[in-house]
Amino acid sequence: MLSVVVLISGSGSNLLALLQATKNPLFPAKVLAVGSDKPAPGLEHADLYGVPTFVVEEKHFASRDSWAEKLGENISHLDPDLIILAGFMKVLPKSFVAKFSPRIINIHPALLPNFPGAHAVRDALTSGARETGATVHIVDEGVDTGPILAQEAVTVLPADDENTLHERIKLVEHKLLIDTVKFLASKQLEPSKVG
Ligand code: GAR
Repeated sequence: MLSVVVLISGSGSNLLALLQATKNPLFPAKVLAVGSDKPAPGLEHADLYGVPTFVVEEKHFASRDSWAEKLGENISHLDPDLIILAGFMKVLPKSFVAKFSPRIINIHPALLPNFPGAHAVRDALTSGARETGATVHIVDEGVDTGPILAQEAVTVLPADDENTLHERIKLVEHKLLIDTVKFLASKQLEPSKVG
């Protein structure tokens, strides 16, 4: 059974999809806790599933490193097999990544390496791309640059705005995330077996 800590910043639809999947006794992962960098609405999903939550806000710390250290303390005492960034919108400092790598994965709403960063859906629309998608990747020290575990394309429709396109991408993300967690559980997360 893969033990997971999920970090979010927003509505937490990916978190909710994962929590729903864990209701199946055959699903090979459990969520130990959900953390956030702000009082995110998605934390309510964790509350409903009886999963503990924590919030560590950067504004209460003198530096990004000290903030990330506190965030890491909230995670390391749980000793999870995997940390999932599910709409966690802060860039984590190198010290945090070094501490938990390669056991951190991120969900991104584009076909990386296209459209990295915080506005991937908007950037895809602005560029006139006819296709974008979703990616799950291992987090490294860069922004949205780590090894890709899973990707799926989503067609951009002529009538799409940022919201409609993002909602369709999220539906794909939910499935990709669950499939990736199952895959990592089956590999026991041994990096040499991933890829
Ligand atoms: C998701 O689309 C995720 O890919 C994106 O934030 C959304 C969170 O949605 N993450 C990034 O853009 C990271 N660069 P959710 O809170 O409903 O799961």
